[in-house]
Amino acid sequence: MTLTAFRLVTIPILSDLEVREAPGTRLAEKSRDFRLLALKISSNAFASTYEEESKRSIEQTYERLTNSKAVQFVALKRGDEAIEQGASVVGLDELVRNEWEGFIVLLGPQAGSDGGVSASVNPFHLMTKTSAGDDAEDKSGGSHQDQTALHFHLNGMFVRPAARGSGLGRMLIEAAIERAVATAQGSDTKEIVVTIIVDEWNTKARSLYERCAFVGVARDTYRQQGQELAELRVALRMELRRTLDEK
Ligand SMILES: CC(C)(COP(=O)(O)OP(=O)(O)OC[C@H]1O[C@@H](n2cnc3c(N)ncnc32)[C@H](O)[C@@H]1OP(=O)(O)O)[C@@H](O)C(=O)NCCC(=O)NCCS
Repeated sequence: MTLTAFRLVTIPILSDLEVREAPGTRLAEKSRDFRLLALKISSNAFASTYEEESKRSIEQTYERLTNSKAVQFVALKRGDEAIEQGASVVGLDELVRNEWEGFIVLLGPQAGSDGGVSASVNPFHLMTKTSAGDDAEDKSGGSHQDQTALHFHLNGMFVRPAARGSGLGRMLIEAAIERAVATAQGSDTKEIVVTIIVDEWNTKARSLYERCAFVGVARDTYRQQGQELAELRVALRMELRRTLDEK
């Protein structure tokens, strides 16, 4: 399949009411099903597992769909739409109706460049918290050590096996980075830092991130959720730094 067979869309951020009424509930089910498919097919690629996430209630998916600091990108098969640059916004029905081919979520921003992300920490909670002092609206950086940077984190990267190897993974990452830059522009920020965590064994994903200009900055060990007796795994924290143009 060639890259032009796909188009990227972002899931609209839903209100608490919208996510509890159709078509929001159907979208939540679709989103959860795709995440479970990823965990089933690529059972070694994520810090979480199918067994753990299939036990969780749909409330967790609702929480993600209503969080303005979690921008979710979905790759759909292209119909006869005009080719657009970047990711477009589509209606919920269209997201529910079409097969999802790939996914990534951009979390954040948080002020500063040392987000403390690691394979043992839930990135969603860390990167989307909005409590006083950690509020991303406070883009000047509050008490954080690096007051000129904004930190984003990429998570949940997955492409269906049949769609792999045509550049879709790269397209998802680039769209997410573009969004991070756009979010940071218009603030006092001079630099963005985008992080991603990848298992060291996962050379396919690692080389993709390297091609997108990520560099490995730290290693740490962890156990997959619900696998407390399993062997420790080695995770690599990779990051991409980008200086924003002077306004
Ligand atoms: C990692 C993953 C997201 C990559 O997705 P993808 O869509 O295959 O990514 P890309 O197509 O951009 O790049 C993959 C390969 O295709 C090659 N490729 C890209 N465009 C191509 C094209 N037009 N023609 C031929 N090959 C191409 C790339 O060079 C790359 O090759 P390499 O891996 O040998 O370096 C996918 O393999 C996946 O979902 N894996 C399981 C889950 C996972 O590991 N997630 C990451 C968790 S951190």
